[in-house]
Order: sequence, then structure tokens, then C-alpha cells
Amino acid sequence: CERIILDCDPGVDDSIAIFLALASPDKIKIDAITIVMGNNNDVDLLANNACLLLQMCNMSSDIPVIKGANKPLASAYHGHSGIQVHAQNGIGNVKYPIKDLNENPVEQYKDVSAAQFIIQHVLANPGVITLCAIGPLTNIALAVSIGGEKFIKSVRRLVIMGGSVGGFGNKTAAAEANLANDPHAGRIVFDAFNDITMVGLNCTRQLPLNKEIREKMRKLHAIGQFCFDITAHYTEILQSWNDSPCFNDPTAIMYLIKPDLFEGQRACVDVEDSGRLTSGQTVADWTGRWGRPLQTLVLTKVDQNGFAKELLDRLAKLTMF
Ligand code: BDR
Ligand code: CA
Repeated sequence: CERIILDCDPGVDDSIAIFLALASPDKIKIDAITIVMGNNNDVDLLANNACLLLQMCNMSSDIPVIKGANKPLASAYHGHSGIQVHAQNGIGNVKYPIKDLNENPVEQYKDVSAAQFIIQHVLANPGVITLCAIGPLTNIALAVSIGGEKFIKSVRRLVIMGGSVGGFGNKTAAAEANLANDPHAGRIVFDAFNDITMVGLNCTRQLPLNKEIREKMRKLHAIGQFCFDITAHYTEILQSWNDSPCFNDPTAIMYLIKPDLFEGQRACVDVEDSGRLTSGQTVADWTGRWGRPLQTLVLTKVDQNGFAKELLDRLAKLTMF
């Protein structure tokens, strides 16, 4: 069972990722959820969302939620399209089925930032903790900058939902949203680590979040109904922009659960942090022309039916409260 810190910005697809992780105690143990701006820059709201998701699954006393960066490292927050996609409350403006909690923000670990927590927890468990990042890489970059080599070497591995190779994006023509929302952080993180798995758009675009699978989630149980509800606005707005809704964040969790559903290729991946049109673009050197280690496994292919089956089978095991 792999112990992870899940760094996220919940978030419609982050929410499904959290459910999938909670439904998979045989494979993953979430030691903590750390919150980063991204889909919204109100980290209180995002942290509250994470707490409520945990409450829905009766896991709130087991997993701390720790707030992190509320702005990118070196650029202004330009995440307004994220707020449009995920809606004002981050989850498609759906109310949580826990009535009292909608108005009562839950906060934990006020005295420590996400970056500090990540460093402390990793150093206390050297070689054991996987960082799974499904939002912008700001918290991880801060942890790298503060924690240095000792911290970097103590991380087991890094699994990132973000990026795309081949020159296309979802937030801009060139860049995927998590990297576009903090390109400087992305560059620091891809420079620092030597064992990264990049679960980017090349892979997640093969997993459409369509009516058929939404209906299957809905039929499971109350949490499945909730997944159906929160994905309604998300899918509609993306379709209206001629974009294709897909499973982004849950794919990173699925990789941790069932890596044999995926294929990938190693490359050295670097992040453009200054391009006029390409800021946040991930660029892959497959052949070593930069003379740098091929530090990243770029996922390129996923078994679509296998993913759907595993997702539904696992979600089906969740119980509410
Ligand atoms: C990523 O951007 C966010 O909007 C999603 O939560 C996901 O992490 C997809 O590009
Ligand atoms: Ca996310």
C-alpha cells in the first residue's frame, strides 16, 4: 500500500480523484491532503471542499487537510477559466448532501503551511511518501526550494496530473491548466526530481467523461449520484467551448492503483516558463539531446474500458457517512 500526500485544488475532477483514492485502501493510503490554488484561488473554499468530501466518506478524522499557496510563485493568478469550469463553489455549484456543513467551513492544521507539512512528513518517512499532485505545482515547488536536496531525495516518487507533450493544451493553445497556472513552479519541480510520472493530457484525453459513464456512476449510490451532479456543469461548459470533458485527476490516482492499464515512454521533460504563447508548455526530449537524465515517464496510452471498469468497481465500494 503506497502512502501518498495528495496535493490538489478540489475541484470537480479532484473530488472524483479523492473518492477513488478513498475507495482504494488496498493500494493507497492518503496520509494528508494539501491544498493549492488552481481551480480557484480561494484556498479556504478548496480546503473546505476537501474536508467535506472526507466527511461524506466518514474519513475526516483520519486525514488532515492542510492549506497551501494561494497564488502562483512568480506570476499573477489567471485561473478565472478554472472558476468557470468548476463553478464558484469548485464543485459545479452543487450543494453537499451534508446539510449543516455547507455553511460551516472546516479548517485543520492552521499553524503549518502545505509546503512545510510536506517537507516535515517526507523527512519523517524518508523514501516512503509519494507526492501525487493534481493541481498546480506551487506547494511542491515551495517544498523543493525550502527543503532542498535532503527533501528531494527523501520523496519516494512524484506522480503528476498535468502537462501535455506535442504542443497542445486545454487552458491555452500550448499548455495544460495545472502547468499554465504556475509555470515557474512547474519548471522547479521538473528540474528537481528524477522519478516523475506525468499523467498529462496525452493520456487523460483518452478517457472521456461522457454521459454514459456519468450515468453509471449515478446508479452506484449516493456518492455516485453526487459525482454525476458535480460533473453536469463541468461537462456542459467544456462542450460549449468545443473542448472534450475527460477524466483528468482521477487518472493519476488510477495510475497508482493499476499501472498496468497504462503505457508510457521516458523523456526529459522541462517546462516553458516565459514563452509569449507557450508559457506552461511541457516540452519532452525523448532522445537525450539535452544531455540530461530522462527523469519522466510520460504516459501515452490507457486502456479505456479497463479504466472505466476499475473506477466503477472501486467507487461502488464507498459508503456515505
Ligand atoms: C487539470 O486542471 C484542473 O482544472 C483539473 O482539476 C485538473 O487538475 C486538468 O487540466
Ligand atoms: Ca485539479
